[in-house]
Amino acid sequence: MARAICDTRDAVKVADSVFWIGVCDRETDKFEGMWDLPHGMAYNSYLIKAEKTVLIDTVKGAYMDGFFSRLNRLLDGLPLDYAVINHVEPDHSGALALLRRLYPEVKLVGNAKTAEMLKNFYGVEGGFVEVKEGGTLDLGGRRLVFVTVPMVHWPESMVSYDETNGILFSNDIFGGFGAVEGGIFDDEADLNLVTEEMMRYYVNIVGRFSRQALKALEKVRKLNVSMICPAHGPIWRSCPGHVIDIYEKWSRQETEEGVVVVYGSMYGNTKTASDAIARSIAQAGVKPVRVYDASRSNMSFITTDVWKYRGLVLSCCTYNMEAFPPIAALLRLLENKNMTGRRIGLCGTYSWASAALKEMQAFVERSKGGWKLVDPTIDIKSRPSCDDLEMCGQLGKNMAAAVRDI
Ligand code: FEO
Repeated sequence: MARAICDTRDAVKVADSVFWIGVCDRETDKFEGMWDLPHGMAYNSYLIKAEKTVLIDTVKGAYMDGFFSRLNRLLDGLPLDYAVINHVEPDHSGALALLRRLYPEVKLVGNAKTAEMLKNFYGVEGGFVEVKEGGTLDLGGRRLVFVTVPMVHWPESMVSYDETNGILFSNDIFGGFGAVEGGIFDDEADLNLVTEEMMRYYVNIVGRFSRQALKALEKVRKLNVSMICPAHGPIWRSCPGHVIDIYEKWSRQETEEGVVVVYGSMYGNTKTASDAIARSIAQAGVKPVRVYDASRSNMSFITTDVWKYRGLVLSCCTYNMEAFPPIAALLRLLENKNMTGRRIGLCGTYSWASAALKEMQAFVERSKGGWKLVDPTIDIKSRPSCDDLEMCGQLGKNMAAAVRDI
């Protein structure tokens, strides 16, 4: 006798007629080819089985197999009427071309920019229902409402709101790194880890677009949201208001007391200067002090702490007449994120011609006051002398005073 295979075991009922059919990725090392995934990644998709059937977003292409098995079993012979594409980035749309082949009658729902991107990414055209800001989709006795959230994360990004259940399908907004670790819902998950990974996703994926995120949050607050179903991370059914609040705090770039010390060092001399600065900050009573070796830490962790804490000290050696490449890359990334309202201390090192400090100073100048310089600025020749280390101590003291909560 053939063995029965149960592919619906991971489909989870979220609310009346709404199901989670997401997948977990514990194989990809780097999201978008750059950001470490120590806890994996979840790609959430949802199915609404009302009078009409509606799929909300799909999953990354490599994870289509389990996704289609569960979708097919859940539909149980019903046609798939609509697939809403809130965002075309391939971590959500990777299964669309195959979806079209398996369900040729399905109508794809998105805005004008979505249609253009689907054509360019997948050659998918036709059978498209275009919606605009505030547009609706009638599911038979209930409606989905669409709200555009441009640049959170791409120009075509939108969110969908199920009026009947008060569910916001928010796609990248309120999403985080991390695979599901048993808990599909916020009250089942380790919220400390979830919040850390959500902030790391926010800073690295959405952070540059914080102004647009604030506009999106304004729109979200006008809806009567009782549950948030994002495309990454857990479903927020216990505390949707809390998660909206912390997202707003990040979008406003509100910082906490604390200092991040990042160094780029070839032979340990620049590291010695950093350690002296970090020691002095800690002795002054400021917590936390987070020290990173730029050569060995994934940038996503550094940028997240830089976003979180008020102070940053950069120590960088000169390399081939330029800033040490890992610190140069960090400067570029931080500048891209348009950070503001923070304090910075600088310490360069060199052996015959100083260049690293100049690059860091140019970064501060280009921020037009976004980064306020804390004295003294230090430039060390070859190896820190006793006088140099005294200056490092002074920089640490001044930084501590500059970032302390009043
Ligand atoms: Fe989760 Fe912008 O993709």
